Amino acid sequence: MAQRSDIVVIGGGIIGLAVARRLCLAGNAVTVLERHRTGRGASWAAAGMLAPHCEFDEPDPYFELCRTGLARYAGFIETLREETGCPIEYNAAGAMLPALSDRGQAQLETRYERHRCDGVPVERLNVREARRLEPNLTNGIRMALRYPDDHQVENRDVVTALAQSVQRGGGVIREGVAARKILLEGHRVSGVDTSEGIWKAHTVVNAMGCRARYLDGIAPTDRIPVRPVRGQILALKAGTAPPFHHTIYTSGAYLVPRSDGRLIIGATVEETGFRDEVTLGGVMQLFRDALELAPGLKSWALDSTWSGLRPVTRDGWPVLGATGTPGLFAATGHGRNGILLAPLTGDLLAETILHDRVPSIMRPFLPDRFYPARDGETSDERDR
Ligand code: GLY
Repeated sequence: MAQRSDIVVIGGGIIGLAVARRLCLAGNAVTVLERHRTGRGASWAAAGMLAPHCEFDEPDPYFELCRTGLARYAGFIETLREETGCPIEYNAAGAMLPALSDRGQAQLETRYERHRCDGVPVERLNVREARRLEPNLTNGIRMALRYPDDHQVENRDVVTALAQSVQRGGGVIREGVAARKILLEGHRVSGVDTSEGIWKAHTVVNAMGCRARYLDGIAPTDRIPVRPVRGQILALKAGTAPPFHHTIYTSGAYLVPRSDGRLIIGATVEETGFRDEVTLGGVMQLFRDALELAPGLKSWALDSTWSGLRPVTRDGWPVLGATGTPGLFAATGHGRNGILLAPLTGDLLAETILHDRVPSIMRPFLPDRFYPARDGETSDERDR
């Protein structure tokens, strides 16, 4: 016999859980279907950077989305802690971008001027100032920028707390259930066919991460053009104190300190399809970039290595909102910013699903930007 839920969320990563939580809080019967273990894919692999000012060079709607996501984060964590009693490590020390060459310095000077003009909180530090804040940085740096508003969070704490929140809110999480196919009545969603049978639901959210395009039963043009982009990452451990206060960020690598004394070093960006192994070349690249920033790390113990697959769309922007199949919604393609954007994605999807409203900040990210142009419409009219 078919199982029933008002809403089925396919994908138990941080995005699916954040969406499910908001829908549960609004009183809906929600089921999350996760093919493996909740939150153990890209959400587990991430480093937890909440750092739009580091990640973006130019202002655009995606940057604005990320800044909005960041502005809500600390409040979201506070609420989630109160709601669940779960500990969630949150670090608001800021991020530092050091320059290691003349060229790097010129790039940072340009970035500094642009961000200052745009009103982004940013500080320019000389070598002495930067090393006073972060003595473990190499003395080979030329200068650094500091973004006080960029934060970082222990992403694994967040997914653990989100899963608890969903369950406390009456939601059901089913692990080991792979969604295969959307079921329709007429043109509208009526459920999902899965490896464990049929789930009837009037609303389905595709939060399948880098596998989002592999959902059958819908028109090929409604498939979301998402692909996996591998990130390899590693952790060092020196002792009980974190070696840095800030997240240290360069174009090659980032160093993210955790309160237990680990230092997360990430991440490669590789087009290797669904291969998620850790390679010697990947690890060597991370070591090289990290040692250039902080030569003292060479005596640290290697704690662990892992990798994850980021969901990246054809145009690199997330895909959020109603698809061309009535009742089917998309929430994926967050690329490098899935942890940062999870709470905001939950809010935006809830607004769309429950109130049929599309907040203006979400418009550039609607799935219909990927649909073929209708008769008489130019591609320019569809492009952002
Ligand atoms: N958030 C940075 C990354 O995806 O590597």
